[in-house]
Amino acid sequence: MKPSVRSLTRVLLASFLVATSVPATCQGQSTSRSMEDPKSPKLNLPDPLISNAEKRIKTAREWKARRRDELKDLFERVMYGKIPAAPEEVDVVTQLVDKRFLEGRATLKLLQLKMGPGNGPKIDVLVVVPNQRLGPAPTFVAMNFCGNHAVVSDPRVPLSKGWLYSSCKGCESGRATEASRGSQSKDWPIEELMARGYALVSFASSDIDSDRADVSDGIYAWLAELDPLFDNRPHDRGTIAAWAWGFSRVMDYVVTDRDLDPLRAAAVGHSRNGKTALLAAAFDERFALAIPHQAGCGGTAPSRGKKGESVKQINDRFPHWFNAKFKEYNEETGRLPIDQNCLVALMAPRPVLLSNAEEDTWANPEGQFDVLRGAASVYKLLGVEQSGLKKRPPIGTLLKGSLGYYVRPGKHSMTSGDWAVFMDYADAHFLKKFD
Ligand code: GCU
Repeated sequence: MKPSVRSLTRVLLASFLVATSVPATCQGQSTSRSMEDPKSPKLNLPDPLISNAEKRIKTAREWKARRRDELKDLFERVMYGKIPAAPEEVDVVTQLVDKRFLEGRATLKLLQLKMGPGNGPKIDVLVVVPNQRLGPAPTFVAMNFCGNHAVVSDPRVPLSKGWLYSSCKGCESGRATEASRGSQSKDWPIEELMARGYALVSFASSDIDSDRADVSDGIYAWLAELDPLFDNRPHDRGTIAAWAWGFSRVMDYVVTDRDLDPLRAAAVGHSRNGKTALLAAAFDERFALAIPHQAGCGGTAPSRGKKGESVKQINDRFPHWFNAKFKEYNEETGRLPIDQNCLVALMAPRPVLLSNAEEDTWANPEGQFDVLRGAASVYKLLGVEQSGLKKRPPIGTLLKGSLGYYVRPGKHSMTSGDWAVFMDYADAHFLKKFD
């Protein structure tokens, strides 16, 4: 689903990095098909079951009562900044319900979540639910880059009002135009989702925060305006945390819609949106499953090690995604009290699929397998034994366990083929279909 200009930027950036002779291992330039690199040093990821007081967590009870909160606190303090609290006021404005969408196969709902008090974020939400079903539909809750109007081409979907990426097709000076309608519909296979019984709930990241480095127009600016005592220092905020807040606000709606199954909702996102989907689901246990797709550094890839994008590179280029404290680890990731295996562990015992593309070495698919393995002890403690973690599965083979893993051939993008895999994975866990 990623607009082509962004992939082009990635290719150009990669060539620039090679040209400036930064060590190749840091840039993920390898094109080798080999799935394992026997020369990789061991990562020494932190053990999620050793508490801050250096005590071993031995029971599921201790994990739930103590260690989960400790880890959440660490992630907010040293990396993402705080995920703001739920707003005091939310007005759900239903703009359209069409039960005859897609020739009667689906229901289309358009609504807006208006946060208050004052002039809070307004999140446009697109809901498409299959009409043929026995009960509430299992649901993918997915944050998009280019607006709901780009996901489906129906002219009734309001054009996104937020600032949009220049790589979003048909957008001019950051604004949506009629020409941008349906520009991503090929990569969001609504018909297939409906045919397989899944609902899609989608919203645009820019309705929560427009990804500017000065964080001038998002939720944090609104909260600071409302309350002069609100802590809006760079130590306490980050755009990924802001977007994760958005996921939870949309989930607040999902649990009230009787067409959607509140117990079978999956958080989905691609790239920076994938980092967000994982953070949101790790913290908000109402999400029954998470699919962070090609999320890479700051999401599903380890901060430690020398493969793919480094902590310094991501902090230099996107300083606003993480809090100020995270910058202190640029050169010394080994000092981080957490790594991303601890974030995946916060998903336990819920299923999480780390899905990737073979050529997207910037996102470090290999290191992501280590991240999964580094979370397995927590799943085990909570009663989920996972097989298949000794060796990465071959390219194109989906590891369907609760610690799911998948690498397909190709580049960084989210395509309808990826959605087919997301549905296979969700089928395994939501419908108990393992074959
Ligand atoms: C850049 C960044 C990645 C991020 C990606 C995206 O490539 O380095 O960390 O995942 O942008 O979100 O598009």
